[in-house]
Amino acid sequence: MQHDIDEIRQGLITAVNSSQSPRDVLKSPALKDLYSVIGTLEASERATYGKAVNEVKVAIEAAVAARENELADAAVEPIDITAPWDLNATQPELMPSETGSQHPLTKELDVIVDIFTRMGFEAIESRQIDDDYHMFSSLNFPENHPARDGYDTFRTEEGWIPPAHTSTMQHRILKAGRAKLEAGGQIAAVSYGRVFRNEDVDATHEHTFYQCEGVFVSRDATLGQMLGSLRSFFEVYYGQKLKIKTQPAYFPFVEPGLEFAIEKPAAIGGKPGEWLEMLGCGMIHPNVLGEAGIDPTVYRGFAWGGGVERLVMLKYGIEDLRHFESGKLQFLRKFA
Ligand code: DAH
Repeated sequence: MQHDIDEIRQGLITAVNSSQSPRDVLKSPALKDLYSVIGTLEASERATYGKAVNEVKVAIEAAVAARENELADAAVEPIDITAPWDLNATQPELMPSETGSQHPLTKELDVIVDIFTRMGFEAIESRQIDDDYHMFSSLNFPENHPARDGYDTFRTEEGWIPPAHTSTMQHRILKAGRAKLEAGGQIAAVSYGRVFRNEDVDATHEHTFYQCEGVFVSRDATLGQMLGSLRSFFEVYYGQKLKIKTQPAYFPFVEPGLEFAIEKPAAIGGKPGEWLEMLGCGMIHPNVLGEAGIDPTVYRGFAWGGGVERLVMLKYGIEDLRHFESGKLQFLRKFA
């Protein structure tokens, strides 16, 4: 009899697993027949038989529940969370394309870095997590100095800093370049990459943006060399001759410190006398050279640093900084 019960149970489970309405199997005559046998049995057999039949019912119910779940899952369209577009889109500009493309900032950074590389600067990407020493102390920001507040820095609970400027790379560049100076050479490097500030986001402010920074040290570096290098860079980037001007500014890591402006290029709708402030720069402070083990009485250097998005926005007439981090295909595809 146990053999019969096992066979019926197996048959019912197979039926459940291939049914589109598995609950119907619970009403199957085969199951009813098992119950109807109970009344015909000797009292001594009933308990064992009844228990076996009940186990069959429990097993079938479990199979029904599992099958119902399976059917429900199959009914839902699977969501491909890795798809970089909206699979249900009907607007052409949101529909998938065959190939990906580079982000406009990646492309422009390549252009920028390429110009500096051709001018003889070595290019390194900046770090995205750093410490207080590289963010501030090595750059001549005294402890508790209010200038530190100007950088709206984020900090992790452990005290690490997602850098608020690419200047965090200066100390490393100087230290690594010391041997070059001692061998009679010079330090010429740009660092570029993402920086982070605790800013309220609007059309001209982002919490995440890009900067590019230059560092040059030799025995006889001059402010004139710096201004000439920067002018050359902007003339190549905007493809035309440019007027430049500077005005004094305070940054703890340079002395003198300057703000550097270009006359807005005609090619991008500028009129004479319209100035655009592009970056901060200056002669590297003796304390910053000394901190990196470079004798400031023997060597001099200049440095500059500024935002990348602004350059790109001017070049392409992009009106809102937030587009860059938005991931919007309509925007990204204009640069594909
Ligand atoms: N790190 C400064 C900022 O983010 C910009 C800057 C100013 C960089 C002067 C420099 C410099 O290298 O010399 O506001």
